[in-house]
Amino acid sequence: MYKILKAEKLADKIYLMDVEAPRVAKHCEPGQFVIVKMDEKGERIPLTICDYDREAGTITIVFQEIGASTMKMSKMIAGDYFRDFIGPLGRPSDFVEEDLETLKNKKMLFVAGGVGAAPVYPQVKWLKEHGVEVDVIVGSKTKDMLILEKKMNEVAGNYYPCTDDGTYGHAGMVTTKIEKLVEEGNKYDVCIAIGPMIMMKFTCLLTKKLEIPTIVSMNPIMVDGTGMCGACRVIVGGEVKFACVDGPEFDGHLVDFDNAMKRQQMYRTEEGRAILKVQEGDTHHGGCGNCGGDN
Ligand SMILES: Cc1cc2nc3c(=O)[nH]c(=O)nc-3n(C[C@H](O)[C@H](O)[C@H](O)COP(=O)(O)OP(=O)(O)OC[C@H]3O[C@@H](n4cnc5c(N)ncnc54)[C@H](O)[C@@H]3O)c2cc1C
Ligand code: FES
Repeated sequence: MYKILKAEKLADKIYLMDVEAPRVAKHCEPGQFVIVKMDEKGERIPLTICDYDREAGTITIVFQEIGASTMKMSKMIAGDYFRDFIGPLGRPSDFVEEDLETLKNKKMLFVAGGVGAAPVYPQVKWLKEHGVEVDVIVGSKTKDMLILEKKMNEVAGNYYPCTDDGTYGHAGMVTTKIEKLVEEGNKYDVCIAIGPMIMMKFTCLLTKKLEIPTIVSMNPIMVDGTGMCGACRVIVGGEVKFACVDGPEFDGHLVDFDNAMKRQQMYRTEEGRAILKVQEGDTHHGGCGNCGGDN
């Protein structure tokens, strides 16, 4: 059992929790995620590790209430327990392995959309702790929906908030801010974009034109999160990859976003899963037998 030490509402439908999970806190790196389960019958919910404190043995998660499970989770309070808190899962961000001197010479741009600020934060924090300052664009619909602003400001070199309705920071989407920064003479060696798939798709279309290599963190439907079922299948460079073990980070210019978005919708229904099974064969469902798939 994993105790919730803090539960806080950050914005409308967005919540933060600190959870006691010493083993995950000891081993996790930026870019990785956990799968949580509230009780024995609960759904498995993948969530990116937003922050970690190795000494205190805690993990911070930030989640958006979008469906039944996240709605139920938003009602949990400090002192409640998660039945399961599995992780760290997925591969850490590539830069964790990179030579620090090479990294310091790179100009990096992070782009976060909505609750995507949560997974971007540990990466920017890790880089700051290792002496690398990066530019960060965070987009949200309105000022009230911007999250983790203070924390992000503390670790970012330059921090650029954007709001769709123009109530704060740059008025417009993250893509128009990227264009503006490049027009102003900024040259980026790499862009890391995390947020809704549609935002990552349009960011990639732009950065391809601007010739900025781009990494995205894919968030397909997941079930086991350990490579056994193929629910999280994405096409990258024409090849089938499982986001939970091969990712979740991939070269954004090689990701087939249209397929990923269509798949995410189809996986919701039994009929959709049946069609996917025919279309995708073995790579649709390896057969873990426990995940509610229809093999
Ligand atoms: C690796 C990974 C990391 C993630 N990190 C975070 C995070 O840090 N914070 C966070 O808020 N969410 C994150 N997500 C998404 C999160 O897991 C889903 O929002 C959650 O499982 C939805 O559960 P639900 O039962 O509340 O909604 P459901 O009832 O399952 O779905 C409600 C609606 O949301 C859509 N939906 C479901 N899952 C996703 C998804 N993965 N992405 C986009 N739309 C979806 C469905 O199509 C449906 O329309 C992550 C997903 C993955 C795979
Ligand atoms: S969730 Fe990735 S293989 Fe099952």
